[in-house]
Amino acid sequence: MSNTQDYVQWFRGAAPYIKAHRKKTFVIMVSDEVIFSDRFIGLVHDIALLNHLGIKLVILHGSRNSIDKHLQNNRLDSKFHQNIRITDSAALPFVVQAINEVKTHFDSQLSMGLPNTPMSGSEISLVGGNFVIGMPLGVIDGIDMQHSGKVRAIKHEAINELLALNHVVLLSNLGYSRTGEIFNLPTEELAGEVARALRADKLIFIQSGLSETETLASTLSTSQCEARLLDPTTPADLSSLLGQAILAIQAQVKRVHLIDPQVDGGLLLELFTRDGYGIMVTNLFYEGSRAACIDDIGGILSLIEPLEASGALVQRSREQIELEIMHFQVIEKDGMIIACIACIPDGEKMLAEIACLAVHENYQRAGFGNQLLQIAEDRAKTSGITLLYTLTTRTSHWFFEHGFIESSDFNLPTAKRDSYNPARASKILSKSI
Ligand SMILES: CC(C)(COP(=O)(O)OP(=O)(O)OC[C@H]1O[C@@H](n2cnc3c(N)ncnc32)[C@H](O)[C@@H]1OP(=O)(O)O)[C@@H](O)C(=O)NCCC(=O)NCCS
Repeated sequence: MSNTQDYVQWFRGAAPYIKAHRKKTFVIMVSDEVIFSDRFIGLVHDIALLNHLGIKLVILHGSRNSIDKHLQNNRLDSKFHQNIRITDSAALPFVVQAINEVKTHFDSQLSMGLPNTPMSGSEISLVGGNFVIGMPLGVIDGIDMQHSGKVRAIKHEAINELLALNHVVLLSNLGYSRTGEIFNLPTEELAGEVARALRADKLIFIQSGLSETETLASTLSTSQCEARLLDPTTPADLSSLLGQAILAIQAQVKRVHLIDPQVDGGLLLELFTRDGYGIMVTNLFYEGSRAACIDDIGGILSLIEPLEASGALVQRSREQIELEIMHFQVIEKDGMIIACIACIPDGEKMLAEIACLAVHENYQRAGFGNQLLQIAEDRAKTSGITLLYTLTTRTSHWFFEHGFIESSDFNLPTAKRDSYNPARASKILSKSI
């Protein structure tokens, strides 16, 4: 395909996301090592683009590395308890200085006229203020955390008013108490609190280093996040983000995204492409969907029999489904199986067949097919599978739109080749995952 055709395809592919994100509220935390990296200028353009696409943005900047540097330059030790910085009175002025330095850099970059860039001529109105009310963390295990605080309240109505006027709200990790004291707040926690207070549509963390341990372009449910938190090999930085992700999803934030800005435009890839780029935490895909059990066989048969009769699906006997039931995922609504998929691994190779994908006709075009395929892909990836294939007579275009291709050099596994019915003339499609 020519470059111009790639561009046209990409633009068409992005259109549903542009429509879906308009007027939605995104809370974005950017860590300070990203802000002072050479990736930042690209990110600034992308933030400007989101603002111009009508997305309501609240941005929080991290300052951990800058605080460490300021304290070190002034010969003060960084002290921590339970992974939380202890901000004592001696450290506070340098902490405030470090935070202001990051904020000023952020302000200045977002205030550029963005000449010679894709966003040339665009202006962003950035506003900050005393939107975060803090309170002391107090004494933990006998240690006075002094000026290290937590969030007491977020002035969400004031923030919403500014967002409605298309301002971008920039927040630092400082909170002020009703008595005028200043508190240093953990930025990830503040971002989570802001997202929850605003009932944001998305909470996005942009932080380096995530790709060192995580598979990118993946989806996690909150229960998978909980399992990661219990796993001692999960790095502390990631745990803290996953903890915030769980709280946010439980408080009705729809999706949380963790993005390691390794490539220019990672944020755009995550938001405007189907496969995404970062790690998405959501329970939306999993609501109503579950692994099938033996009791579902009757429901699966009632769902697929009309499709088998019409020739859309290949015949499967009750016995065959019984044998393969552990590879099925179903969606149940009001006690009825309304959709199913099977992802059947090949015994020898790292590949699996996507089979028996069916959505009840009353529920088609609502995203259930897409949802099941994503779950099947996630599960396959988790078990080390790298290639999926499917045989289809009438749904090849649906699979093409989900990243499958028809390739002449794909060899069916032996057992499958033996059972292949040439009379059906099914197309063989595959997808690397
Ligand atoms: C194919 C199927 C699983 C899709 O499920 P779904 O939940 O409706 O799919 P989604 O909501 O994720 O996607 C819907 C989109 O796919 C399109 N689509 C549905 N069937 C399609 C097909 N055969 N070819 C191309 N596109 C198709 C719809 O038109 C819709 O696009 P639009 O909203 O832009 O019009 C469902 O239509 C089905 O059960 N079909 C019959 C069984 C079948 O053919 N299974 C595949 C066996 S290999």
